[in-house]
Amino acid sequence: MNSDSERIADRVEGRAGPPNGAPQKPPAEKQSYERSPDVQRWLQLQALDASSKPGFEPSLLAGRRDRDWILSSLRHFYEQDLITDVLHEVSSGKEATVYCCAADPATGVDRLAAKVYRPRMFRSLRNDAVYRESRAQYDQEGRPVRDGRRRGGGKTTRGRATQVSSWIDYEFATHRLLHEAGADVPRPVAQIGNAVLMEYIGDDEGPAPLLHQVRLSREEAQPLFDRLLRNIELWLACDRIHGDLSAYNVLYRPGAVTIIDFAQALDPRHNPEVYPLFERDVERVCRYFARYGVVADPGATALDLWVRYMGGAL
Ligand SMILES: Nc1ncnc2c1ncn2[C@@H]1O[C@H](COP(=O)(O)OP(=O)(O)O)[C@@H](O)[C@H]1O
Ligand SMILES: [Mg+2]
Repeated sequence: MNSDSERIADRVEGRAGPPNGAPQKPPAEKQSYERSPDVQRWLQLQALDASSKPGFEPSLLAGRRDRDWILSSLRHFYEQDLITDVLHEVSSGKEATVYCCAADPATGVDRLAAKVYRPRMFRSLRNDAVYRESRAQYDQEGRPVRDGRRRGGGKTTRGRATQVSSWIDYEFATHRLLHEAGADVPRPVAQIGNAVLMEYIGDDEGPAPLLHQVRLSREEAQPLFDRLLRNIELWLACDRIHGDLSAYNVLYRPGAVTIIDFAQALDPRHNPEVYPLFERDVERVCRYFARYGVVADPGATALDLWVRYMGGAL
């Protein structure tokens, strides 16, 4: 995310104080970020940064309050010949909206999924020490920062902005790392600023359902459970835990699972405290599959994987 959009988000969300000790304005009535003068100015600047490829006008966005924000988030993908249109909204969460986009023929696929973060996500940015510690020591590629310099700390607007952009960078870096290792994740395509483009999991009918929305047959439950555990093991071998694994972050297609949403992924190397989060990931998977008769002791399964990881066996 670029610094302008971060500053805007901070201002609009009311995080940044008045400049140079200027008197604090009385709280105005609730302001939508789209109408803020800062957002308007930023959007005008975006328009001046003349597009080399005009014509990106998805009809889906016409008349929408957040049209300009979405357009400025996605148009880079259009300019880079990755998408041609925004077809429909797949999901709208607190921090991000996922869109199904028509892929440019050059990509060789019909559709791509775009996850666009909102300025709102700044408000719910996680601040707990485990997350800060674990992430602050890695660069955008997810590699350890050797000289021990901390990235993105601090409570200043700038510090927070760095935190937020490294947050999205880190999610995408993890996504790429796991895909390269052969994990069952959507193929990552590109990340620019506050938007991530990836393989769309679904068909003409719509996106694949989440695991929590489907009813599995008994025969397919055990192989899918095994597959998820293999993924968890593979992520550990890549020094990552998902951190928010549940049937809500797994897409289902007959006989196959695709894991999404690595926004809370962590590197355990410098954080033995992540174990409870890892255990929770394993427990949720075990609990979900237990209803289909899959027998697994969550505590013992998690511990076994962890001990092998710590012993260098993974
Ligand atoms: N690659 C994808 N293909 C199809 N649908 C997706 C894809 N990625 C996300 N979705 C849909 O969007 C929803 C939200 O995505 P997710 O990454 O979990 O964001 P969040 O939980 O932060 O809103 C998912 O529950 C899923 O329904
Ligand atoms: Mg999710």
